[in-house]
Amino acid sequence: MPEHLVPTSHSDPALAAALAEAGLPTADLAASPAQFFRAVDDRFETVGYAGIELHGDEALLRSVVILPARRGRGFGADLVAAMLAAARNHGARRVWLLTEGAAPFFARQGFAPAEREQAPRAIAATSEFARLCPASAACMVHLL
Ligand SMILES: CC(C)(COP(=O)(O)OP(=O)(O)OC[C@H]1O[C@@H](n2cnc3c(N)ncnc32)[C@H](O)[C@@H]1OP(=O)(O)O)[C@@H](O)C(=O)NCCC(=O)NCCS
Repeated sequence: MPEHLVPTSHSDPALAAALAEAGLPTADLAASPAQFFRAVDDRFETVGYAGIELHGDEALLRSVVILPARRGRGFGADLVAAMLAAARNHGARRVWLLTEGAAPFFARQGFAPAEREQAPRAIAATSEFARLCPASAACMVHLL
């Protein structure tokens, strides 16, 4: 701590490895329009990753992962806060996500449950919403 975000490429093999280890989607990484970030600690060691896909004033938060050895120390909360700030700085007013296992974590970060059908067209058309995340995934939204 504190944590910093460093832009990274969707082709970063360590990003794909971290997502795969956590069971998060990787199939669309190469074609993803999201901007991905590497979260580093105050020694510039990698603690995790996240991506944000911007569609006007709507945004999709995806690929939020903290490396297993670094979990439970507040890095995830800091990472989400930094991603929300980045989305806000780029004009987003709502941030959407789908999650299978981390809904309580995101609720602590200010996300509220939403119906998947409430997502605007641009978010519903993202590969995570349209193809990759199962219908059982929880949809959540954060107003900025
Ligand atoms: C979910 C994840 C990002 C949380 O990261 P983390 O660094 O361990 O979380 P933090 O230490 O910042 O925890 C923040 C708070 O959320 C709680 N929390 C963390 N993970 C939680 C979970 N899965 N369910 C419920 N609460 C959780 C913590 O207890 C903590 O509570 P506090 O504010 O009372 O102290 C991490 O566990 C992870 O990478 N999981 C695998 C990938 C994943 O599921 N990503 C989300 C889907 S996009």
